[in-house]
Amino acid sequence: MYSCSLMYLTIQMLRVLRNSVQNITTARHLSVLGIETSCDDTGIALLNQNGEVLGNVLNSQQKFHTRYGGIIPPRAQDLHRAKIAEVFENCIAQAQMTPEQLDAIGVTTRPGLPLSLLVGLRFAKHIARKYKKPLVPVHHMEAHALQARMEQNIPYPFLCLLISGGHCQLVFVRSPSKFSLLGETLDDAPGEAFDKIARRLRLFLLPKYEHWNGGRAVEDAAQHARNPSRFEFPLPLARDRNCNFSFAGIKNNSFRNIRAVERQEGTPPDGIIHQYHDFCAGLLAAVSRHLMNRTQRALEYTIPWFGNAPRSLVVSGGVANNDYIFNDLSHLATHYDCQAYRPSKKYCSDNGVMIAWNAIEKIKENSNCMRWDYDSLSICGKATLGENLLSAVAEANIKCKWVQASKWRRAMNETPQPLTAGQGIVL
Ligand code: KG4
Ligand code: ZN
Repeated sequence: MYSCSLMYLTIQMLRVLRNSVQNITTARHLSVLGIETSCDDTGIALLNQNGEVLGNVLNSQQKFHTRYGGIIPPRAQDLHRAKIAEVFENCIAQAQMTPEQLDAIGVTTRPGLPLSLLVGLRFAKHIARKYKKPLVPVHHMEAHALQARMEQNIPYPFLCLLISGGHCQLVFVRSPSKFSLLGETLDDAPGEAFDKIARRLRLFLLPKYEHWNGGRAVEDAAQHARNPSRFEFPLPLARDRNCNFSFAGIKNNSFRNIRAVERQEGTPPDGIIHQYHDFCAGLLAAVSRHLMNRTQRALEYTIPWFGNAPRSLVVSGGVANNDYIFNDLSHLATHYDCQAYRPSKKYCSDNGVMIAWNAIEKIKENSNCMRWDYDSLSICGKATLGENLLSAVAEANIKCKWVQASKWRRAMNETPQPLTAGQGIVL
């Protein structure tokens, strides 16, 4: 008798739960919150199912971490903790909504700095419990990959190059949940290399670059180069016929070159080499060339997978902000009758919008992604992305006839400019 009524009660509860999930997915205006704390940005955004951004608040810790030359995980955690409630309240206020009106909460659970991820997930669980909302766990790199679809009509499937401060991956994306990994970095990520090299160059001593990330500073400095081909950089993994990346060689070569020029110019410890513009131009061209070559092989490999569907290349992650790199990749894509896309610049780097958008894509695909079993959700510092096809790509042993950088770029690189003698800039 007792067990019968317990079973009846359980069935009724399951029915209520199923109906509420169905109501959510059929609602005209699904409102989804996105919480991002995987690294040093506390980002929270509120979107509707059409990708309209109703609220978007980002608290960047960049200024704090540049003072120390890199992210200190426990300090990043403290800053997330100190700011997350305020960021949430501001976001809800901006959207002119109440938390009760939310339909679901997307939160980054992997990959990222564990201490940072923990703050976001704990906060998401707290909100979910308080307002009785389901949670959608989000993979940070999947969110970068799908972000461009929020603003542009990019059909599945597409090839995606993910370039950020922590990752460098080539993936073929067939749906919000189906990713095939074609290549990844063997060591550093491109954003990480830019950040470390910019720091070694001491670009932060220049007031303009004081609070900029390394990649943005390198891009800006390169635009003022007089002789962009003055410095030579190695082409990584030139013999490996796969789609993997490596930036450690470029980084170490940069450090050696900078030391040599500093000696030659007599640069003081608080100075910057006189030729930093040329140096940044060479560095940017080398990174871009490497990204182009590996992406070209991935295009060769995946073109048959598109069938008659339109071919798209999506570039995403913080380094996708870089116009030079994106222009090179767009130029490459045209050779394969492929359209290149990237998210608008404000959404290339980490933010809450991409997490909310990813949750929306997932819910639309399968509402079972919404989780009420809060306690079983946990963070994961390292996480793979999709099915691993690295060996299959290598076995295909694809030889490429490299598409060259666009003509205007070659013309720029081949025209040596007169040099001015300098003794280094002292600040
Ligand atoms: O995606 P993101 O915001 O955070 C991670 O998930 O890593 O990427 C941050 C990275 C930094 O390393 C930064 O140097 C790089 O993106 N970045 C750029 C540019 N803007 C940001 N790299 C090259 N050119 C840029 N304009
Ligand atoms: Zn990121």
